[in-house]
Amino acid sequence: MANNMKYFIGNWKMFGVPKSIKIISKINSYIKKHKFNKKYKVIIAPPFTLLETFSKKFKNTKISISAQNCYQKDYFSSDTGSISPYMIKNLGTKFVIIGHSDNRDQGDTDKIIKKKINIALKNNLKVIFCIGENKLQKQKRKTLAVLKKQIQGSLERKINKDNIVVAYEPIWSIGTGIVPNPNDLRKTVNYIKDEFRNIFKTKKTPPVLYGGSVDSQTIEIFLDISEIDGFLIGGASKSSKNFIDIIKNYYK
Ligand code: PGA
Repeated sequence: MANNMKYFIGNWKMFGVPKSIKIISKINSYIKKHKFNKKYKVIIAPPFTLLETFSKKFKNTKISISAQNCYQKDYFSSDTGSISPYMIKNLGTKFVIIGHSDNRDQGDTDKIIKKKINIALKNNLKVIFCIGENKLQKQKRKTLAVLKKQIQGSLERKINKDNIVVAYEPIWSIGTGIVPNPNDLRKTVNYIKDEFRNIFKTKKTPPVLYGGSVDSQTIEIFLDISEIDGFLIGGASKSSKNFIDIIKNYYK
């Protein structure tokens, strides 16, 4: 995954029914005609219930489909209600979000996240790995320490980092309309990249995205931060217009 490529990833969370496919079809039609469409990649993460149809429908298009989570065991097991990376991969789905703060809230520890990442990669899924500090940690100036712990606690040294995309999502920014100060954000993104260089002893780092209250207005704040390799978009990804406006404003 080349680092000059930008990512626009839509995380639908608990949203969507079969007819919501129209939203992605509209985004796909826009991308097909957009003159900068070689510069970025669009990924949409609908709920599990829609993965199969959406993955098939958008198979040979500019849009990839991602799962929003997976269970930390491979193949099949007796865990009621759980879905393994193997099952996701079998639907034709290419990506999976792991470590979202919603799931960390529901009990995902770094150790569980590590298992999920390893199994997802083993099943040839690409991983969108979410990290981020909460409000109290930010107030206590612990942001970088928190991110370091999350990265070191969740990634094996030997994993295929070419199949990882990192999404930095400060929890205090998700769904609040509040976004980080651009200087802080630049520093944080650079810190994450440095951390990867240290861990993997390599010059190349995975793409590092920003997520949290990204919409067609706030995107303007991030235009000058070239270090950011893209965006993970929640609320504004549920409407084709809002999502397209983000891309439009980014490339205008
Ligand atoms: P938001 O959500 O864009 O609605 O803030 C982002 C996310 O949770 O991934």
